[in-house]
Amino acid sequence: MTARHFLTLMDLSPHELRFLIRRASELKRLKGPYEPLRNKVLGMIFEKASTRTRVSFEAAMVQLGGATIFLAPRDSQLDRGEPLEDTARVLSRMVDGVVLRTNRHETVVRFAHYSRVPVINGLTDRSHPCQLLADMQTYFEHRGDICGRKVAWIGDGNNMCQSYIEAAQQLDFKLHIACPPGYEPDAELIQMAGSRVVLDHDPKAAACRADLVVTDVWASMGQEQEQVERSLAFRGFCVTSDLLRLAAPDALFMHCLPAHRGEEVSAEVLEGPQSVVWDEAENRLHAQKALLEFLLTAQS
Ligand code: CP
Ligand code: NVA
Repeated sequence: MTARHFLTLMDLSPHELRFLIRRASELKRLKGPYEPLRNKVLGMIFEKASTRTRVSFEAAMVQLGGATIFLAPRDSQLDRGEPLEDTARVLSRMVDGVVLRTNRHETVVRFAHYSRVPVINGLTDRSHPCQLLADMQTYFEHRGDICGRKVAWIGDGNNMCQSYIEAAQQLDFKLHIACPPGYEPDAELIQMAGSRVVLDHDPKAAACRADLVVTDVWASMGQEQEQVERSLAFRGFCVTSDLLRLAAPDALFMHCLPAHRGEEVSAEVLEGPQSVVWDEAENRLHAQKALLEFLLTAQS
């Protein structure tokens, strides 16, 4: 049987996504040991830094009875030129699933093609689907189903923004993206989302009556050398209390973290009563437990 992978949100059906969101909240409430992944091993290959993704996957596997093996590319034969295709074929004969965090999305697609076991995208330049599972779980827990709601994305049309575009399609919400000219998300993704997604350059229009306001760093990992140029281009795209006041009175604020206070979000908003960023970060653990249970037990 071919393995199920989770490379983007489009790899699951809307029904499966809603199931995982519900299951994540169930697993969060669960008391006592629950070890459906006993003796299962998750391989983790990270080309980029991580706090939340790495720790949540490692903690999730231990708590579900399994284990992880973390591989920084420089510590493996990948860095000495062993082809990715060979690594995928070898690793997937030894472990039960693999999480990859890579510079290029094409790398996880190629790895998955050669893998016998489920491959999970732990962030690429194109998308960050695991973060969206946690974001959606957090919204559902605080406000109920997101179907028909308005979400404002303020800032870079980056990997997170692109996963929000897919979430809008899969969970049927309106997404208003405001980004500086030249920093738009992939045009093909926008087109596929149809009328659910609006794209312009006006943070106020995006925030207006939104039920959820989301942002992310102006320079993602790998774009550090563009920091100065981006800081100029993104002026006016900071989520401040004034901007948040335009949203619905009970609007939530989310950020995948790490955050840069005073750049994409003010400290007042990040630490304020509408911010649910700490629940959002915690839910990485629960959402990924639901994902691991779904992918790693279905195959056996
Ligand atoms: N939000 C997120 O993915 O954080 P890390 O880069 O710390 O994993
Ligand atoms: N857009 C950010 C997300 C970090 C979790 C990055 O890719 O660095």
